[in-house]
Amino acid sequence: MKILITGAAGFIASHVADMLLKRGDKIIAIDNFNNYYSQKSKRSNIKQAESHKNYTLFEADILDTEKIRSIFRQTAPDKVIHLAARAGVRPSLENPQLYADVNIKGTINILELSHEFSIKNFIFGSSSSVYGSNKKIPFKETDPVDNPISPYAATKRAGELLCYTYHHLYNLNISCMRFFTVYGERGRPDMAPYKFTKAINEGKEITMYGNGTTQRDYTYVADIARGIIAALDKNHSYEIFNLGNSKTVQLKELIETIEDAVGKKAKIKQQPIQPGDVTITYADLTKSKKLLSYNSKTSIDEGIKNFVKWYKEERA
Ligand SMILES: NC(=O)c1ccc[n+]([C@@H]2O[C@H](COP(=O)([O-])OP(=O)(O)OC[C@H]3O[C@@H](n4cnc5c(N)ncnc54)[C@H](O)[C@@H]3O)[C@@H](O)[C@H]2O)c1
Repeated sequence: MKILITGAAGFIASHVADMLLKRGDKIIAIDNFNNYYSQKSKRSNIKQAESHKNYTLFEADILDTEKIRSIFRQTAPDKVIHLAARAGVRPSLENPQLYADVNIKGTINILELSHEFSIKNFIFGSSSSVYGSNKKIPFKETDPVDNPISPYAATKRAGELLCYTYHHLYNLNISCMRFFTVYGERGRPDMAPYKFTKAINEGKEITMYGNGTTQRDYTYVADIARGIIAALDKNHSYEIFNLGNSKTVQLKELIETIEDAVGKKAKIKQQPIQPGDVTITYADLTKSKKLLSYNSKTSIDEGIKNFVKWYKEERA
């Protein structure tokens, strides 16, 4: 199979590409290497993949419709995994227009071209943030998601709605995957596991927003990548899936787990909880287990150990 992946040099997509290459698929990788975080990190994410004969990299912006169309024409992909996005909740409050451009307009571009080139299956990288301040836990795919509390979350929900529209109009097979706080090797430097590991390792202060009791369903990146590939292989007509770990971890527990893995104590500065932040995320995985045989295998202790080892070897 020829799989076109957008955002291919990013954290999650680079793991998906590695797994697909391993089993013999061909990868058409698209990324614009923007400066949300260092280009150098993104280049190193795909260093190994780039030397593989089945991996072709195109440096392109998903907003550049003509360039992306020429890539579809030239490479004739069978399936698409659309993970390019402006990620991150807090920066979306500073620059909502950019988030809308990339996450909504960019998604329409990829959907349009997927229709034009008769793509067999389209996987969309959505987010648990669409659940907003959902009071009912764990979060189920059928829960109402009409109250996103950040521009980022609103753009991700808009992406899911557009996916439905393209499925309805053109019979495009689409699965929208709601990822729950992903962490692991090549993790994004703006996310808590990376920031905390770096600061604790360097003996610097970390900022803890709130009193440490906010909870996240941290999910190890290899589990997420396996879930994405399961959906890629199934060709469901239109479905939304949670991909999480279904075990919540308090922020202060995350810090303790990182302290143990790094072997140093954290210096904690407490700040008020930030606007746009949710207090808990918690995935109900019944549907993903049933329709995708999805199973998250990695405990937070094991995943953080792997992450810290990678951090010390590659980034410290
Ligand atoms: N990491 C998480 O915890 C998490 C949780 C929920 C959803 N997601 C979603 O998963 C996807 C991947 O996230 P990630 O954490 O790997 O982020 P990432 O920032 O590491 O990866 C995104 C990649 O997309 C590229 N990109 C951004 N704008 C682009 C554009 N206009 N054209 C071409 N490429 C562009 C970036 O350069 C980057 O390499 C995103 O859609 C994100 O919203 C991530």
